[in-house]
Formats: sequence, C-alpha cells, structure tokens
Amino acid sequence: MPLNVIIGAQWGDEGKGRIVDAVASEADAVVRFQGGPNAGHTVYIGEEKYVFHLIPMGILNEGTLCCISLGVVVDPIILLNEIIELEQRGILVKGRLLIDPRCSLITPEHIKRDKNREHSLGQRKLGTTQRGIGPAFSDRAGRVGWRLGTLIGKIESGETLGLPESYLDACLKLKSSLADVSLIIYNMLNEGKSVIAEGGQGTMLDLGLGTYPYVTSTNTVAAAAPVSLGLSPRSVDSVIGVLKAYVTRVGEGPFPTEIEGAAADKMREEGDEYGATTGRPRRCGWFDGVIAKYAARVNGIDEWALTKLDVLDHFDPIFAAVAYEIDGERADELPLNTDTIYKAKPVYHRFPGWKTSTRMARKIEDLPFGARAYLDFIQEFTGVRLGIVSVGYERKCMIRLEN
Ligand code: IMP
Ligand code: MG
Repeated sequence: MPLNVIIGAQWGDEGKGRIVDAVASEADAVVRFQGGPNAGHTVYIGEEKYVFHLIPMGILNEGTLCCISLGVVVDPIILLNEIIELEQRGILVKGRLLIDPRCSLITPEHIKRDKNREHSLGQRKLGTTQRGIGPAFSDRAGRVGWRLGTLIGKIESGETLGLPESYLDACLKLKSSLADVSLIIYNMLNEGKSVIAEGGQGTMLDLGLGTYPYVTSTNTVAAAAPVSLGLSPRSVDSVIGVLKAYVTRVGEGPFPTEIEGAAADKMREEGDEYGATTGRPRRCGWFDGVIAKYAARVNGIDEWALTKLDVLDHFDPIFAAVAYEIDGERADELPLNTDTIYKAKPVYHRFPGWKTSTRMARKIEDLPFGARAYLDFIQEFTGVRLGIVSVGYERKCMIRLEN
C-alpha cells in the first residue's frame, strides 16, 4: 500500500535527491509528479557525482521502477541525454523508466520565450532556470501545448510539425518508455507495493502557496502528488518534508533570513551551494522556523528529513528565526502578500555553535549537545518529529531516528 510523498519545505535544493536515494532502496517505485528539468538533484555514490533533472533519483537503485507522471513538463532532448549519460555510466534505464504519454512538452520555442521574458523584465526578472518551464505550463493551461503521446502519433502519421528534426527524433526515441503511469502506480499500491512520489523545487516555490510571482509554474506541495498521479487524495500514507539545516534560494524574490557578506560566503562554500541546473551561486541564510511551520501545515508533514547539519559545524553562534517583525509588529505567520514578506525582519533565537564535526555521527547520541539542542528546537517549534538527519554528502552520512 504505502504511498510516501517527499517534498521540499523551503525554496528547493533542500537535498530531496539525497533523501529519495536513501529511502528508494525500500521502495518498489519512485515517481516524479511535477515541475520539469528546472529541478536538479545531486547525489554522490562513492566519489561519483550524479545530477538528475527529469529522471527520478530511484534509478540508481537497481530494483526500483522509475516513473514520470503527467504533472511533469518534459524536454525530450534533456531527458534523452540523461538516459544516454546514465547508460554510458553503466546504469540500466531502458525498461526501468516509464513516462506518461500525457506529459506536456517543452519545445525550443518555450525556452526562447522563457529567456526573452526574463530579458525583457530586466531588474524585475524572476530568475528562472530558463528551461522553458513557465511557457510550457502556460500553454498547458491554455490548452495549446503538445503532449508527448499525441506528438509521437502525429510524427508517425507523417504530419508536418514545424519542430526541429532532432527534437522529433528525441520524442520518437522515448516512445518505448511510454506507459499509463497512473494505472501502473494504482495497481502497485493495490498489490501492497511501496511507492515514493518525489517532489521538485520546494513549498515556497509553489505557484499559489509560495512567494508569487517569484515561484515556479506548478504546485510543489504534497497535495499535487495525487492530482498528477491520478490517485485519490486518500491514497497518500505519509509526507516527508525535507528541510535544510539553514536556508538557500536561487533566483529572485523575498528571503527574510538571508545573510550577506563573509558568513554567507562561508555557508555557500561549506555547503557547496551552487545550482545543480544553472550553476548559479545560491543565496544563503539562517533557518526560518516561520516557513518550516508553514510548510508543515500546508503539506501535512509527518516527519522531517533534515539535511546538511554538518555545514553548521563551522558556525558559532547559529541563528534560527522564530517570528518576523513587520512595521514594528510581531508576526508569527507567513504574510500573505509578497510585498509584506519583503519587509519581514526575522526575530532570531540564538544557539551556541557546537564547533565539532558531526560527519561521523550515525545515531542521535553521537551528536554534540549543541547540535541535539538545535534539532530538539526544530521538532518542538514545528511540532513535527525528525525521521532522518543527514550529516554529509556520502550515502553513509545519515542518522535514522526511531519513531
Ligand atoms: P522556473 O521554475 O525555471 O520557472 O524558475 C522559477 C523560480 O524557481 C526561480 O527562482 C528558480 O530559481 C526556482 N527554481 C526552479 N526549479 C528549482 C529547483 O529545482 N531548485 C531551486 N530553485 C528552483
Ligand atoms: Mg536542486
């Protein structure tokens, strides 16, 4: 039965890939349910670095079926290249990757539109990944976009389509991977199999619940999973929220706990905070309890997976926002207007740094007292328990907490 949804609780790049990789070994299938190649998941296996944009992380786990559901916008060229690269590195993809033919396509024209729009916005640009995400979802909502299955049908019947030959070729090469992902997952769940729905981006980039217009063009919250999988909302068994021990953001938009200067540079270097898709340096800041609490509520998070705790080993003191101050007044909830979020000044709780390496910790008792106090604070403040704490980029650098 279990369908576990894994989503990001901040502005993306929380380390979802790392967490999906860790739990994929126990899953029969992993499904992407929204976004597109704007996502960038990085995972290290030994010294090997893998970056994924469209293929679910579960592909590194031999027995796991990987699916792309209809909620994802697919760039066939990127997807095909990703498949080829993985196969060149000895990972079998054919037969293990299924794509719903109802996926909407990103065309070269969408990419051009995305770039032009950002350019024409100048100072007011959104800072998109320029992968054509916004225009592709706009065309989907406007009911003028291509879907993968339909386009393949038209190519095969010899219609003139006005798309580059290489693009049409890539679509045809994906044909053998097409399947009714919704039905397959439905049947697997009925057979008692375990499925992970892997989110992209993060809660604060949700089209409606995030910091609009500085958001992506899809719903990133857990509830988007059953919609895009064509499943009942009752099918979701648990939601894991992935939180970084501090916060990062790429692109423009408000970020109340953002820091600048030497501390931000140090966080960026220690945490290797550069975009996996665009290579852009990520903006860095302290943990934001207001956002974590908001994410817990709008996603119904059952447990946190906290990543990159080890990056804070190098900081003393450590700060975490517990509220905002807006025009001289205290706010405990995230403001509804993005203009007001810009004005929010964090009210910080100050923690003494632990200044010792946490990388070797494999159980909670191995952590220094200061780190445990920080974790206790996160659980108590958000009212959600911790299930996983990661303390390094290697697969083994992970603590599993008992329920
Ligand atoms: P788009 O999704 O390319 O349209 O970009 C919209 C906003 O979402 C920009 O601020 C991007 O930097 C951000 N974004 C999109 N995908 C990701 C992601 O996977 N991680 C982090 N930020 C993302
Ligand atoms: Mg990422």
